[in-house]
Amino acid sequence: MPDITPTVMLSAEEIRDRIAGLAAEISRDYPDDEEIHLVAILKGAFLFLGDLIRAMPRTVTVDFMAVSSYGKGTSSSGEVRMIKDLDTGLEARNVVIVEDIVDTGLTLSYLQEILHARNPKTLRTACLLSKPSRRKIDVKVEYIGFSIEDRFVVGYGLDYAEKYRNLPYIGVLNA
Ligand code: IMP
Repeated sequence: MPDITPTVMLSAEEIRDRIAGLAAEISRDYPDDEEIHLVAILKGAFLFLGDLIRAMPRTVTVDFMAVSSYGKGTSSSGEVRMIKDLDTGLEARNVVIVEDIVDTGLTLSYLQEILHARNPKTLRTACLLSKPSRRKIDVKVEYIGFSIEDRFVVGYGLDYAEKYRNLPYIGVLNA
């Protein structure tokens, strides 16, 4: 059975242009001679990270962490579980968490708390998408790509039941 084709909310071109802007903003905020360590949250942020770092012509390092906050459905369980930890420590580093979307904020606030405890020099967060109307926790996100309305979105790394991550755009199911 073929899957439903999502309706485009943000085109590949809009995403590319906005990420170029975000990359410039992040780069500007750190001295040229300092490294930026990007911590991408799997799986959803893998394409965002790939495009973000290619738009940052400076020294960056990357690491990955995997957490799970949703089951196979589209609503949050409110529970965050760590599935894969980082390979290296964060002590004295300029850390930027790279996340696909901030929805209730529960996942990010959990991540910020555990990463902050590892004593980075600075800790900031970049999210491609934000759904402000869904927030349950007032979590600080310094870099936001797009603020969107409360719709379940897929594509560009984001999934529904592990599908649609490969779409080059962000779309809405059952639009
Ligand atoms: P939060 O903890 O409620 O902020 O949820 C964050 C996580 O839920 C994200 O990292 C996504 O994995 C997932 N998520 C939230 N909204 C969506 C959506 O619209 N599409 C796909 N995944 C989503």
